[in-house]
Amino acid sequence: MLSFLLNCRPITSELPAGLPVLDLLRRELGLSATKSGCREGDCGACSVLLGSRSPDGGLRYRVVNSCLLPLGALAGRHLVTLEGLNGDTLTPVQSALVEEGGVQCGFCTPGMVISLTGHLLNADTFGWSEILESLDGNLCRCTGYMGIKRAGERLNQRIGRGLPQVGAQRIEILIDAGVLPSCFAEAEQQLAELPPIPPYSADGLLVAGGTDLFARSP
Ligand code: FES
Ligand code: FES
Repeated sequence: MLSFLLNCRPITSELPAGLPVLDLLRRELGLSATKSGCREGDCGACSVLLGSRSPDGGLRYRVVNSCLLPLGALAGRHLVTLEGLNGDTLTPVQSALVEEGGVQCGFCTPGMVISLTGHLLNADTFGWSEILESLDGNLCRCTGYMGIKRAGERLNQRIGRGLPQVGAQRIEILIDAGVLPSCFAEAEQQLAELPPIPPYSADGLLVAGGTDLFARSP
């Protein structure tokens, strides 16, 4: 049994630790905003944010491919899907994509929103090259990339260049800007209150990355 936060909600699961998180979200929990594309870590349609407690204090969020992420890796962490970012109105990231013509069929859009939100959470500097880096794991098959990149630059100008260094203060500002929901302010405390992470089983299979293993999953 393992516990984690899903979009600021504590979850306890007894499903197999090797279940790909993409299947947990779409098949088990009915959270279909996270898309299933290549299932090989190539397209970014399945991108989610994964928050962990940093050794320096506070939470650090990374963009990861949920198709290659085993459920066991969620223990004690904060998993964030597009459903966890959505509010009553578009977030600034979603608005920028719309304003710059970065959306056509929409299949890649959830992954783009996650990656651009991850950019605002993690970037040290906010230039054009950092936008390209943040989007380099996301494929779009129909819009063309310029509108998406321009949306990133719009975010750099509107929000990114005023942000402090990565840390709690940046998260507060991103909450105020509507990029993140207010529950992110409580996530660190919520993680501290979760049941302890179970020890590794001696006969378990340790997975680092999981690329080949999970790429073969149905
Ligand atoms: Fe393509 Fe996960 S489905 S990277
Ligand atoms: Fe259609 Fe990107 S908008 S794949």
